[in-house]
Amino acid sequence: MSDNLLKNIYTAEEFEKNATKLFKMIKNHLQNTTTGKADRTLNWNEPDKELNFWKVFLENGKNEDFFTEILKRSTHTHHPKYVGHQVSASAPITILTAMVSALLNNGMAVYEMGMSPSAIEKVVTDSICEKIGYTSDFGGFLTSGGTLANLTALLSARKAKVSHNVWTEGYLEPLGIMVCEQAHYCIDRAAKIMGLGEKGIIKVPSQESFAMDIKKLEVSYNEARAKGIKIFAIVGSAPSTATGAYDDLLAIADFAKDKNLWFHVDGAHGGAAIYSEKYKHLLNGIAQSDSVVIDGHKMMLMPTITTALLFKNKVHAQHTFSQRADYLLHDTEEEDWINSGKKTFECTKTMMCMHWYILLKFYGEEVFDEFVTRQYDLAKDFENTLQTDPNFELATSPMSNILCFRYTDSYQNDERLNQLNTSIRQELLEEGEFYLVQTKLRNIHYLRTSLMNPFTTVDHLNLLVNRIKEKAELLLNKN
Ligand SMILES: Cc1ncc(COP(=O)(O)O)c(C=O)c1O
Repeated sequence: MSDNLLKNIYTAEEFEKNATKLFKMIKNHLQNTTTGKADRTLNWNEPDKELNFWKVFLENGKNEDFFTEILKRSTHTHHPKYVGHQVSASAPITILTAMVSALLNNGMAVYEMGMSPSAIEKVVTDSICEKIGYTSDFGGFLTSGGTLANLTALLSARKAKVSHNVWTEGYLEPLGIMVCEQAHYCIDRAAKIMGLGEKGIIKVPSQESFAMDIKKLEVSYNEARAKGIKIFAIVGSAPSTATGAYDDLLAIADFAKDKNLWFHVDGAHGGAAIYSEKYKHLLNGIAQSDSVVIDGHKMMLMPTITTALLFKNKVHAQHTFSQRADYLLHDTEEEDWINSGKKTFECTKTMMCMHWYILLKFYGEEVFDEFVTRQYDLAKDFENTLQTDPNFELATSPMSNILCFRYTDSYQNDERLNQLNTSIRQELLEEGEFYLVQTKLRNIHYLRTSLMNPFTTVDHLNLLVNRIKEKAELLLNKN
């Protein structure tokens, strides 16, 4: 091994050589994708072929081709024909904050390992708490994703609402969490990780619109109580993932108050609507919650992965994990905003707060208002297009920027249509011009679009409709 290798890889010249080239490529990528000039959102490749490519590339590929290949072989969220999963087209300025986080690598578990990001994180989370409508004692932190944040919130709920100390004594009685059957699967997973078992996750039925059926709350609660389950928390989805339907948070807040439950809002996707003058009414009742999750990498234009977990009362954030790590943390009853690792699952985390701060600083809250409002409006326009076309059927009217629909025909045979819509989606995936996804709701297969890209217009969506029809006709003629 060469003695000079380590020295060489750290030279500023080596960095500059690679960075200059990459910055040009990023600029071209942004230009080609955001304008829709690139003719595809992804270049589909079978998994085995892709695996083989990277095995061979490690041995034989040219180093200078690495970034070119990565850009070519990935899904382009910045393309207006990207209407797939709920991941943002990251605002270009946050590409730079991601880079600075990688450079400084301050792990943030304790204040000394992230002085400015610890302070920045408090500025950011306090401002989100105020926007939610929390008053006086609020507080929160950033963590790695909605899944982890929801689990953390439910652990805080257990600590706050269960009379014995589960952390030290284990479970002395069966406990449970209530949530709509349509909620993101991470809530179910959180309950299982917490050891509550199948009976510990009480799924409240959904109504026609796929939002929680509030009329069933009392029945679901009583059934669980009759089985001896002590319910300590209820989760409202804002919105749920598959259809983008917002639960009635006001009604859930009242129910939680009546039964003395922790009220958690999973706003991973649409919590960002607190910034939208036009759509913030969807979150009425959020100010009465005990905790809220909002993903920065979904509707807030940030790179993966950054999530805010906000608490009405910061004491609960402080007490979730009572574990001691004497070399890092000192036990204190006082507010300890400076030592992030006490409150988060992570010991080390990225300096994700910079993405939130820089967007607020450079562009203000208006950027979130403009983005959320535009995307939710666009879904309404798309709904109008689909409603006037007899070949399409909507699962439900969209409440957010998520819209589920299917191609249909005069036979209306669900089994046949399930097969047809699955095949249409596969054909579109392999063609790569548009990227959309699919979901199964009440045994019906739907095509699913999340309108995540700020450059997607009705014209793009009309083109998508035409492509779907072309594929459907080809497939129907084949059979
Ligand atoms: C409502 C909701 N909650 C939680 C999650 C999980 O968030 P993450 O992917 O950041 O872990 C998602 C992801 O789509 C979601 O839509």
